[in-house]
Amino acid sequence: MRTLVQIVIALFVTFSYLYAESTVKLNLLPVPKQIELEEGAFRLNEDFTMAVRGSENQRLYRAATRTLRRLSNRTGLFFSQDFITPQSEKTGDFIIQVNRTGQIKLHEDESYTLDINNEQISLSAETDIGAMRGLETVLQLMQADAEGYYFPSVHIEDAPRFPWRGLLIDVARHWMPVEVIKRNLDGIAAAKMNVLHWHLTEDQGFRVECKTFPKLHELGSDGFYYTQAQIKEIIDYAADRGIRVMPEFDIPGHSTSWFVGYPEYASQPGPYTVERKWGIMDPAFNPARAETYEFFDAFFKEMSDLFPDDYIHIGGDENNGIHWDANEEIQQFKRDNNIKDNHELQSYFNKRLLNILQKYDKKMVGWDEILQPDSPKDIVIQSWRGKESLIHAAKNGYQVLLSNGYYIDLIQPTDYHYLNDPLTEDMDLTPEQAQFILGGEATMWAEFVTPEIIDSRIWPRTAAIAERLWSPGDVRDVENMYDRLETFSFRLEELALQHEKNYLMMLRRLTNNRPTEPLQTLVDVVEPLKIYRRGQAREFTQHSPYTRVMDAARADQKVAREFRALMEQFLADGAHNPEMAEKIRQHFYLWAKNHSQLVDIIEVSPILREIESLSEDLQKISLIGLELMDALTAGEKIAPDRGEDISTVLKAAKKQRGQVELQVVEPIEKLLAYVSK
Ligand code: ACM
Repeated sequence: MRTLVQIVIALFVTFSYLYAESTVKLNLLPVPKQIELEEGAFRLNEDFTMAVRGSENQRLYRAATRTLRRLSNRTGLFFSQDFITPQSEKTGDFIIQVNRTGQIKLHEDESYTLDINNEQISLSAETDIGAMRGLETVLQLMQADAEGYYFPSVHIEDAPRFPWRGLLIDVARHWMPVEVIKRNLDGIAAAKMNVLHWHLTEDQGFRVECKTFPKLHELGSDGFYYTQAQIKEIIDYAADRGIRVMPEFDIPGHSTSWFVGYPEYASQPGPYTVERKWGIMDPAFNPARAETYEFFDAFFKEMSDLFPDDYIHIGGDENNGIHWDANEEIQQFKRDNNIKDNHELQSYFNKRLLNILQKYDKKMVGWDEILQPDSPKDIVIQSWRGKESLIHAAKNGYQVLLSNGYYIDLIQPTDYHYLNDPLTEDMDLTPEQAQFILGGEATMWAEFVTPEIIDSRIWPRTAAIAERLWSPGDVRDVENMYDRLETFSFRLEELALQHEKNYLMMLRRLTNNRPTEPLQTLVDVVEPLKIYRRGQAREFTQHSPYTRVMDAARADQKVAREFRALMEQFLADGAHNPEMAEKIRQHFYLWAKNHSQLVDIIEVSPILREIESLSEDLQKISLIGLELMDALTAGEKIAPDRGEDISTVLKAAKKQRGQVELQVVEPIEKLLAYVSK
């Protein structure tokens, strides 16, 4: 018997409450397009076997085997089946049926249908890529009860809303070894994303072995670059998971590292050294010289062979034109060619590059700066400076990706990214124009991340972006998302992602192996400075330490977020719910007594001194919180002059220390306002 009628979210919004409930239980992320929960369950035991049908390609067999291992590792069940290969049995408890091998290309079919009942699991898909998306759903569906592990009976029909769902990883500002990329590719696959946008070159590093121009990687990378064998290994690893790898070579600006070996293509004579600082730099390729284009022709010929994806990203962002303006040859070139400004000059440069890329059968992608009135229509625009460029591009017939609002390096909360939709009614696009919006990408810029902390900046927030790009547009319940995200996040650890375990490791290092609990109590309620304030608070370089409290602290700290929600609810309900009041008090007790414990640790761990006053402020505001709760209970008002003193303390507590900020001051301000009125 079916307990829930078929729910097509897009059509039956009134069912969304029911839907949300079942999804919490099911913990699916991203939410499938269509799901029908049925009575019954498939029980997992050690006789469990899987079979693949219809695929000649090894890829799906490997994916099935990985699924089997993940199930085994989670459950501790000793399955008898070892590897699933084309020679394996074509029948089993779990049948995966596909029609053809998918291509690792934009617009490939990623849909799948999943049926689970008491006897069988069956997953069918047009392509093996769709089947792999379905395997992630199966892994998410597994539940446990007193009888053991099981999959609830369901019927799911699923397909992505947008065809391009990517994560940019900047490996240039900070070097990221192969294993960092691989484990994040596993995360990308778990979130049903399908593009790794590999930001390979920057002022601070050139990260690809280049055989035609070897001084690029030899002199531009400090020895930290991927060999071509490693590049192929990563592309294969991604393809095995149905993920495209699009390389970015950011030009004409953001290019200092190229000129260390080849200053002759720059707009100023040099010499150049690898940049160590962050920011917008002046060096840029010389667009006025024929040799520059000969260089790029040979360069992109080699890179087009190395990277099989149809698309190559040429960057194009933040070229400030300073070195162009200072070069007389370039100025003369502009006059001779009737080029009125640097925008037009960059547009000229882009057109020359487009010809080169097209010669090697590649399509061009660039940041929104490359969109000029006369830009050719077959380029893809990546919108980062504002949504206007996305709408403008789509209205003018350019394919476009959204990254504005998906800058996960800026430490903004998950719900901010989650609710940022690439395609909304108010954009006022025709159905034809809407088709130009291909999807979006989260961007992991690497100024402030190292291999140790990058996972904590990417995950789990990127999964919320993945849902925005995969699930129907009206799946927007923030609380429900946070619930599911927690499960998603912890399961990422089975893929060796380090966002959770490195938190505790870093706290251990910070406390010099003293007990970490008092530090965690503090760090759980602080976050790094957001947006661009961090880089403004002090100078950081490539070789700065990224091991401080700022680096251990994460975006969207759960304890702080839940405390804010608790206070919000408590006050909205009239501030008399005793259970909520008790919960709030428990937070204040914990924070108030924490400081004296942390001080003992700071004593022997000088790296923590920068947050000592922050810890003291947490104590102060918690004592204030208790005072306000007492006043509330006693039905007393806070006297105006006491209220002013409290305001001053609360305001001071908001100040950043060591580039982190307390995230629980605002609810106490709200409590004060409530008690004062
Ligand atoms: C960018 O963030 N400069 C694309």
